[in-house]
Amino acid sequence: MLRIKGLTKRYRTGDLALKDIDLDLPDGQVMALIGPSGAGKSTLIRCVNRLVEPTTGTITLNDTVITALGGGELRRARRRMGMIFQEYALVERLSVMENVLSGRLGYVGFWQSWLRRFPQSDIDEAFRLLERVGLDHMVDKRADELSGGQRQRVGICRALIQSPELLLVDEPTASLDPKTSRQIMRLIKELCAERRLSAIINIHDVMLAQMFAERIVGLRSGEIVYDGPPSKMRPEVLTAIYGEEDWSATIRKVDETEEAEEEEADNVIALHDVRQPHRDRMAGLT
Ligand SMILES: Nc1ncnc2c1ncn2[C@@H]1O[C@H](COP(=O)(O)OP(=O)(O)OP(=O)(O)O)[C@@H](O)[C@H]1O
Ligand SMILES: [Mg+2]
Repeated sequence: MLRIKGLTKRYRTGDLALKDIDLDLPDGQVMALIGPSGAGKSTLIRCVNRLVEPTTGTITLNDTVITALGGGELRRARRRMGMIFQEYALVERLSVMENVLSGRLGYVGFWQSWLRRFPQSDIDEAFRLLERVGLDHMVDKRADELSGGQRQRVGICRALIQSPELLLVDEPTASLDPKTSRQIMRLIKELCAERRLSAIINIHDVMLAQMFAERIVGLRSGEIVYDGPPSKMRPEVLTAIYGEEDWSATIRKVDETEEAEEEEADNVIALHDVRQPHRDRMAGLT
């Protein structure tokens, strides 16, 4: 379980990015963090692994007080938190396999890793993960030869090969098309369920957050203004988070939210099939 208590972040510039945040994340829970640009979403997840240094407050991950650690202890604790970035952050000239294995660098000794000698068990695990995300036929491809969705899958494998207890995900779908976005979110959700991992996912797309997270936290100006299930996301909630707008088209209706996930794939196909009923449905959405 992740426990955040009284977390405040004031940057050197004077920007108060987070104001006294209290947040608990039980094991295995996938939480979406939504909010307007500048609300403090990236700051929050970066404070958790201390890529950003909190000004005050404590962060505890399964009995380890992350905010009390320094040096080697902090490096070891960071391995327990897999991070997946918006910009994929792969090493362009390295292969898919090497990028995944780079997630093990914290474990392998410096010279060993410099010589790129990874234990067979790491290589086997990298293969298993790449197979799981459907990229096992691309192990030798260079990162700069991949599509955005493929790069994000490699990023997911690299985070998971650390065997983390928690995933920190910053806008995983920011530059992906709608279908690939759903596939990536579905993959993250499934992997969390398979490994009993908890995750904080920063995401701008409210509908994706509703579809794939079991809990949504809304941040506005560094404060939590909503914390609840996807089904309770009403237009008033979005107004509280983002400000006044007509939000009716942005939110999934409760009965839709309860539909099985498989139906989503059917919906995508249905949109290509522009028969009148579908057109009517689309018209109703816009
Ligand atoms: N390195 C920094 N130095 C100073 N201020 C910063 C820094 N990083 C972020 N901020 C400020 O902190 C606030 C929160 O920024 P943050 O990046 O956490 O927002 P965000 O919710 O992730 O936004 P976005 O949706 O655009 O990614 C903003 O006011 C921002 O200007
Ligand atoms: Mg951000």
